[in-house]
Amino acid sequence: MSATESTSSASGATPYGTIPPASPLPQRRPVSLPRLAQMRAAGEKITMLTAYDATFAAVADAAGVECILVGDSLGMVCQGLPSTVGVTLATMVYHTESVARGLHRVQGTSWLVADLPYGTYAESREQALRSACALMQAGAHMVKIEGGGWITPTVEFLVQRGIPVCGHLGLTPQTVHALGGYRVQGKSDAAARTLRQHAHELQEAGAAMLVLEMVPAALAAEITTELQHCHTIGIGAGKGTAGQVLVLHDMLGMNLGKMPKFVHNFMQDAGSVRGAIEAYVHAVKEGRFPDDAMHAW
Ligand code: KIV
Repeated sequence: MSATESTSSASGATPYGTIPPASPLPQRRPVSLPRLAQMRAAGEKITMLTAYDATFAAVADAAGVECILVGDSLGMVCQGLPSTVGVTLATMVYHTESVARGLHRVQGTSWLVADLPYGTYAESREQALRSACALMQAGAHMVKIEGGGWITPTVEFLVQRGIPVCGHLGLTPQTVHALGGYRVQGKSDAAARTLRQHAHELQEAGAAMLVLEMVPAALAAEITTELQHCHTIGIGAGKGTAGQVLVLHDMLGMNLGKMPKFVHNFMQDAGSVRGAIEAYVHAVKEGRFPDDAMHAW
């Protein structure tokens, strides 16, 4: 086999692209829970983006996001499912391993969060622990779990066993059928009270992060101020949260359905995927995204 035919070389070139030799962000220390708390204390917004494979994870890391979420949105984005309900634990493990390998290959420093999928934590705390361990062994640093109230003892059980947990309140896609569709949550006084109470309970149970999805901006901002030990990450929840998350394909302008109101297409003014993700990171950190007048309720 000649040098040009070889499958890899010292430069990292392969027939399918070049393996990056080292971290594109050599100055950044690995993102950790203490680092996220420092950012919060310094008033710096936390950025999170979904990724489902090695290459996009490496690009997102290089573009400067602090947190990568292997979301069960992969069911709709990658698998073409009608909702996240059909996503299995085996699928989440496969994609978490892919993302973790991508980050490892470029010496990435992002904090890796993986979703516990539908039906893998509701039966018992032990079932949740087994599912969470599978994701941690696949390379996750934290697991995300949907719901409030009934889930709190499970969150406490996982945290006590050394598994960092991110909660998820508001629009919880795994219960879309019970919620009657992808609707804004916490709009009435009673619903807002319940959501706020669930958020406090999750913090008390030890959740270190909390995704707030499709929640009125004012309510999300109040909850953020109240929860000092649990960093809120908003999606359709206004600019007052500690950080923001978007689905990768949405912010690149690739969506098989209707683009949600809270999404901005960062690709339209960027020359590359990395450029689009960098634009997202800068817009969040500079308080330009989200714009509550356009992207929130
Ligand atoms: O699965 C996912 O991508 C998510 C985000 C929408 C937060 O949960």
